[in-house]
Amino acid sequence: MTSFQAVIQLVYVIAAACFVIGLHLMNSPATARRGNQVSTAGMVIAIAATLVLLIHYGTVKPIGWIALGAGTLIGAGVGLYSARTIQMTAMPQLVSMFNAVGGGAATLVGVYDYLHTENLPGGVLGTTTVATLLDVIIGCVTFSGSLIAAGKLQGVIGGQPIVFRGSRLFNIVLGVVLLGTAVFMLTTASQLALLVIALAALAFGVLMVLPIGGADMPVVISLLNAFTGTAVAMAGIVINNWALIVAGALVGASGGILTKLMADAMNRSIPNIIIGGFGTGDTAVLAGPGGDAQVKSIQADDAAIQLAYASKVIIVPGYGLAAAQAQHAVAELANVLEEHGVEVSYAIHPVAGRMPGHMNVLLAEANVPYPQLKEMDEINPEFPRTDVALVIGANDVTNPAARRPGSAISGMPILDVDKAKSIIVVKRSMGHGYAGIENELYFDPKTSMYFADGKTALTEMTAAVKTLVA
Ligand code: TAP
Repeated sequence: MTSFQAVIQLVYVIAAACFVIGLHLMNSPATARRGNQVSTAGMVIAIAATLVLLIHYGTVKPIGWIALGAGTLIGAGVGLYSARTIQMTAMPQLVSMFNAVGGGAATLVGVYDYLHTENLPGGVLGTTTVATLLDVIIGCVTFSGSLIAAGKLQGVIGGQPIVFRGSRLFNIVLGVVLLGTAVFMLTTASQLALLVIALAALAFGVLMVLPIGGADMPVVISLLNAFTGTAVAMAGIVINNWALIVAGALVGASGGILTKLMADAMNRSIPNIIIGGFGTGDTAVLAGPGGDAQVKSIQADDAAIQLAYASKVIIVPGYGLAAAQAQHAVAELANVLEEHGVEVSYAIHPVAGRMPGHMNVLLAEANVPYPQLKEMDEINPEFPRTDVALVIGANDVTNPAARRPGSAISGMPILDVDKAKSIIVVKRSMGHGYAGIENELYFDPKTSMYFADGKTALTEMTAAVKTLVA
């Protein structure tokens, strides 16, 4: 290794260290922004080192530099614009599109290198072929699967599971084709075989995601994110760039861990989610307050009395808070109560909402102070000494049925809302949540149902509390 190469490798080590430190800083909301900046700095360093490398060896032709510049400008422009303008509710789709381009780019790197080295005297190395195969297979599955996932979340493709007759058999045929062609490629370098593998993997990605229900998509997106990282790491092995290997491995590992954590917090296995379980879309069983349900309902004035005379209130946000875009309204109610001397905190369930950290992001948007956000293990012991638990658009994560065997959510850790002295639930109807089952909390004698859109209810309650304490 020349001293120039050694310096470049050293710079790559610095970039990799930035990725690791950045990821570590993202552990806490207070340092997450800095974590993002450190990781970005790592990426800038890695790109700069690669450009210096290209200039030093002078292998890139002028047309190559033009393509590189145009790609950078278009990619950075589109990325910046979409990240800045995207609605919080559309974030999963955006992540999915980023996964798609990540997987696609990793595939192209692998394919280019294979086509290039295959023609060299001596052909491709066995290890490179294995890495190329994994890169192309995982990258293509991620590319097509992520596009379908984004399409489902955006409503371009129906959110319901899409299954057709013989799809299982078709998947088996695809698997056999992939395996057979891959084995062939290990013995004989062949561009045609690589094309067959890419097409089969693309079809597999589509067929893998189509049967999954729209509501299960966040877990699938996290899994596809792990796939993207793995494809990028494989591309790194193919072109012998270990900054790419480290970055890809970090994404692969963290995406994998996140997927496992999400599945655990829902008490479901990853294969169960992939094969399809209860997450087949948001159900809306409109039994309504006047239906068969024996529940107690409440209006703004009575709710305001309970809240204003409480000494401790825990707010339990869920998917409905995001759907109603009521984050600013809830923050205002909390402020009014705090000014009146009420202790207010927020109970954050790990899978409340529809994406990891959904509630944290939503409440941060409304400038809710981080110390008020309490994770499940921290807040659960506090419910028995809580005067009012105010549940806003949260359903499954509060359902006591999870503590008993025999329900769709049995074993799922829940917030112990039913242990509070009094409970107010804000939602529009007796409609089910993501798991599609009845919530026993609503029939608890301590529970009062406030049937309204989250934002409307919070605005009405805030006005009523203000009148009370004026
Ligand atoms: P859910 O159980 O899905 O319940 C949300 C409730 O919000 C619904 O019952 C709905 O009732 C209500 N709602 C909808 N729009 C509303 C509005 N505008 N105003 C007021 N209420 C509204 O939500 P959760 O408790 O947050 O639980 C999350 C579920 O998603 C869990 O089952 C979890 O396993 C699953 N999941 C989570 C993730 C991640 S990573 N967070 C990923 C995949 C799946 P109405 O229709 O009656 O209003």
